[in-house]
Amino acid sequence: MLEIAGCVVLLRLTQLMSPTRVSRMRALDIALLPCLSDNYAVLLHEKSSGETAVIDASSASAIKAGLTERGWKLNHIFITHHHTDHTAGIAELKAFYGASVTGPDAEADRITGLTRGVTASTKLDFAGHAINVIETPGHTLGHVTYFFSDDAIAFTGDTLFSLGCGRIFEGDGQMMWESVSKIAALPGDTNVYCGHEYTLNNSRFAITIEPENEALKARVAEVEAARAAGKPTLPTTIDAELATNPFLRPRSRTIKARLGLQGAPDWEVFTRLRLLKNKA
Ligand SMILES: [Fe+2]
Repeated sequence: MLEIAGCVVLLRLTQLMSPTRVSRMRALDIALLPCLSDNYAVLLHEKSSGETAVIDASSASAIKAGLTERGWKLNHIFITHHHTDHTAGIAELKAFYGASVTGPDAEADRITGLTRGVTASTKLDFAGHAINVIETPGHTLGHVTYFFSDDAIAFTGDTLFSLGCGRIFEGDGQMMWESVSKIAALPGDTNVYCGHEYTLNNSRFAITIEPENEALKARVAEVEAARAAGKPTLPTTIDAELATNPFLRPRSRTIKARLGLQGAPDWEVFTRLRLLKNKA
């Protein structure tokens, strides 16, 4: 589903950042690698140290090919949650490169090869770039989001998608709402990388919930054009998602009225949206 036809995007983070923020940091190179049918792995490379990391290990072969193409050697693997489509490449990558494997401590018994379990209180960095671990349970109970605070980049795995959110497999609606709310509270210019290319499918649901939302209509057109051209729709930003993603907009009077949930708490509106999306 939603094949990207081998498209690989290389973004210089400095092109996405404000001049003030760039001046405080060394540049990271970022490569978005399509894996399996609709997963993404994201390569991060810091030039001066030569250190390279990958966020989620969906497919060892795709990740090895992406690294070889750039002449990069993998030092670190960061895992968002235990699902196989995010972890299947760990063993081969770890054996081939000797990379460390960081992932949620709460799922240590479900992620084979983990070398470092993290929680919200873990001090973490990649090549000197600070990483805040945000616990975002709901899709799975131990799911974490990695927020690179120096760079304003968030890797949200299967918790927040562009124009959508992950299915609630292990938690409940209130837990998942609290998790997406933590991500929504990040700086508006944060670049968000998600675990899957689901945006086009999500856009079709989103527009049924808020057909009058002008920002959403414009985003749907952008997404359709990008996918028709075989391009990824990521990264998105927190500001863009706040304006267009129905799962971050349960306070919208329009949405509440559409669902007949005027006066309901945000988590309840969010949960209803998730149930409707499951049936869409
Ligand atoms: Fe997942």
